[in-house]
Amino acid sequence: MTKKTLRVSKIKNGTVIDHITSGHALDVIKILGITGRTGGVVTVAMNIPSQKLGGKDMVKVEGRELKSEEVDKIALLAPHATINIVRDYKTVEKQRVKLPSVIRGIVNCANPACVSNSDEPIQSTFYVEREEPLRLKCHYCGYIMEKKDVLKQF
Ligand code: CTP
Ligand code: ZN
Repeated sequence: MTKKTLRVSKIKNGTVIDHITSGHALDVIKILGITGRTGGVVTVAMNIPSQKLGGKDMVKVEGRELKSEEVDKIALLAPHATINIVRDYKTVEKQRVKLPSVIRGIVNCANPACVSNSDEPIQSTFYVEREEPLRLKCHYCGYIMEKKDVLKQF
């Protein structure tokens, strides 16, 4: 008999980022600064069938929990992602990422003439006009940022 399923191992301690919008697993890897050269087990799965989302990506990172800034960046690209914290093989915390209505300091305005890009210490500020497809409006110049503008910065 041929085995039709290959089960991806559970992790012992770390974080499972699940329900990532298809096509964004590698962006999540980048946001987390994972190079694969530091030893910990990292599992990446793409285009997994999902009833809720049609298809999804997933990233499992052994031995690491995420910083809130990393979670905010993931939320920009994958607003349906869930962050599962695993300790001793059990999911001890499950949190859906949440995009706040105002985003400060996570990304820069793509308009070079924007005052938030000047030498003045002005924190970038955007209003989330739409989550998917992403649409952010700069508080200072009104420039509309889309997902591609955000991706360039990660
Ligand atoms: N997971 C893992 N290692 C563990 C525990 C969970 O890799 N030790 C993974 C599971 O494979 C799953 C995700 O983490 O992809 C969430 O697992 P779980 O909390 O058991 O919830 P599910 O009911 O599978 O997922 P959902 O969030 O869709 O309810
Ligand atoms: Zn601007």
